[in-house]
Amino acid sequence: MKTTHTLKTFIRNIPKAELHIHIEGSLEPELMFEISRRNGLSLPFSSVEEVRRACKFKNLQSFLDIYYEGVRVLCQKQDFYDITWAYLKRIHAQNVCHTEIFFDPQIHTDRGIPFELVVTGIHQALQNAQQQLGISSKLILCFQRCLSIESAMKTLRQALPFKEWITGVGLDSSEVGHPPHKFAPVFEKAMEEGFLTVAHAGEEGPAEYIWQALEKLKVSRIDHGVHCVEDARLIKKLVAEQIPLTVCPLSNVKLHVFNNLAEHNVKHLLGLGLCVTVNSDDPAYFGGYITENFLAIQEALNLDRHEIYQMVKNSFQATFLNDKEKQGLLDRLEKFMFQDSQKDLVKNKGISYDMRKASHC
Ligand code: ADE
Ligand code: ZN
Repeated sequence: MKTTHTLKTFIRNIPKAELHIHIEGSLEPELMFEISRRNGLSLPFSSVEEVRRACKFKNLQSFLDIYYEGVRVLCQKQDFYDITWAYLKRIHAQNVCHTEIFFDPQIHTDRGIPFELVVTGIHQALQNAQQQLGISSKLILCFQRCLSIESAMKTLRQALPFKEWITGVGLDSSEVGHPPHKFAPVFEKAMEEGFLTVAHAGEEGPAEYIWQALEKLKVSRIDHGVHCVEDARLIKKLVAEQIPLTVCPLSNVKLHVFNNLAEHNVKHLLGLGLCVTVNSDDPAYFGGYITENFLAIQEALNLDRHEIYQMVKNSFQATFLNDKEKQGLLDRLEKFMFQDSQKDLVKNKGISYDMRKASHC
């Protein structure tokens, strides 16, 4: 009981990075209603509770249908600023020090919202987070794989004037029936323009889509990737090259990729030596932010301190920061681990931690 309690505190306090979060999926129902009111728009839901009740999904597509409804309230630059800022304040309270955020411009530009307005609102919140909260960040533009390659190419052209603010491009939305190879020309052009690349693959789709993302889109990370277990040769490659998987446990259960967390393969993948990271995906819809994801898998899979530490370390190493910045995060993690181990030592000897801490800080 006591161990569980300290492990929970450890999870809450450990400095973290998040690498898989759709900013539109962080729109909490309360803010959805507030923004819809000020924009004079109606929602297909009558109350916050009704939105929460609607958060029962059969699969990825049934989630995306509701997600697209919710984002229709976002129209002004201030709206994009507000959802991003709300997310950043939440993760600040969870000791997240670095985040890499996806945004889905086509959902907005297809409704007539200018690309510039979307990206400027998000960027301003990210800048403020660096200054006021000490959270560093990267922004990743996702193409919707259910739309055409022409639409993705047009979106890439719209992004070019904002290259300074956008580090990478990704691929999201309905996976099955939309193989990554279809987007190879867009990803090639994006890389020529200096963008890094990631892609959702192996969430609902097969291991074959992970191969395509690696070989045709040349991605640096796989988003989700949990279906890699179907293919031993793929596992071998992912381990050998330490290609990060941005795993989202609560999302996978909500969308029925796994029946429950006890059946989730995150611990198994970590044990195989894969570079597994833990993330929230769409926290407003899936029951929690990054800390809730860690807490839930710890309990369901009986993860120990070292496994939690390893996944946090993986996420720092998998960021799109430069080597010096990464080292800064890793140093912070090691300092935390040292102080945490000292706390245990002190507790076991019955010495007050405060007395000892003073000599290490
Ligand atoms: N867009 C938002 N969340 C997503 C997910 N889990 N998979 C694919 N596309 C998404
Ligand atoms: Zn996702």
